[in-house]
Amino acid sequence: MNRTDDLKKWKLAVEETMQELIESSDMPTRLRDAMSYSLEAGGKRIRPALVYAVLETYGIAIERGREVASTLEMVHTYSLIHDDLPAMDDDDLRRGRLTNHRQFDEATAILAGDALLTDAFRILSEANLPAEAIVEIIRAFGLAAGSAGMVGGQLDDMLAEKRDDVTLQELQSIHERKTGALLVYALEAGSILADVSKEDRLQLKQFGRHLGIAFQIQDDILDVIGDEQAIGKRVGSDEENEKTTYPKLLGLDGAKRALDAEVDAATFAIQSLSVQAPLLVDLLTFVVKRNY
Ligand code: IPE
Ligand code: IPE
Ligand code: MG
Ligand code: MG
Ligand code: MG
Repeated sequence: MNRTDDLKKWKLAVEETMQELIESSDMPTRLRDAMSYSLEAGGKRIRPALVYAVLETYGIAIERGREVASTLEMVHTYSLIHDDLPAMDDDDLRRGRLTNHRQFDEATAILAGDALLTDAFRILSEANLPAEAIVEIIRAFGLAAGSAGMVGGQLDDMLAEKRDDVTLQELQSIHERKTGALLVYALEAGSILADVSKEDRLQLKQFGRHLGIAFQIQDDILDVIGDEQAIGKRVGSDEENEKTTYPKLLGLDGAKRALDAEVDAATFAIQSLSVQAPLLVDLLTFVVKRNY
């Protein structure tokens, strides 16, 4: 099976599960509509794909990652809804559609995000997995998504707006937390589900770390040179918000070189695994070659 087929299969699996989960929860219709609106809008589903790729790499059926993959996409989607709010990046286009607060209203968008986040942890706690694995996964998820990870990175991203003295080190730390943390978590959760060795788990984490930085560098590059139709969000949003990004700090060529360095480091981590991992190599290539 080639990469496109794998991605399609994983995308379908996670989309079906998310739909089932939302439909089976009791909630106000408007809340369900707002949550579904953003969940169904598409998206690359790269985080679930990473969970599934780890499982397949170690010969485990992807069904084992059902709740982990879908709750990860739910939390990622909540982060996008809140990221687009007027108080944050103030964007009106996401996944090729109006942003959630533009389609509904700000209060509904905030609450849809809150519900996606909160329900994700409840769903995960009910997964058909050994209790110890569930606790370990929930802890890693909370660390990655919370103040020490994504949320903290988002705050520092905003504090870095309009500053012209942000160092590359600071920017890397922002990227690692606002974007990298959830990608590292995808690899960690996959490692726990597949019960991989301590050594492989460390290498998978290293892979996720470099992949995460690479992912946000490419996102920053696409914000400059991307095609609005393809990426489904406004080009030039970062410049408008006076964000500190890799292209701003290093220029486009410098950003591309930084991206290459992260890819090399990520590749080295894959090669250090005890198994061949062509699916992870493919996902890495996809992340850096993507135009959306
Ligand atoms: C966008 O994430 C936000 C970042 C963390 C860079 P994705 O590029 O994965 O967005 P979707 O899920 O495909 O829409
Ligand atoms: C967002 O980074 C990271 C998140 C945690 C959502 P960006 O603000 O660059 O993401 P986009 O470009 O709006 O998708
Ligand atoms: Mg942002
Ligand atoms: Mg944004
Ligand atoms: Mg961006």
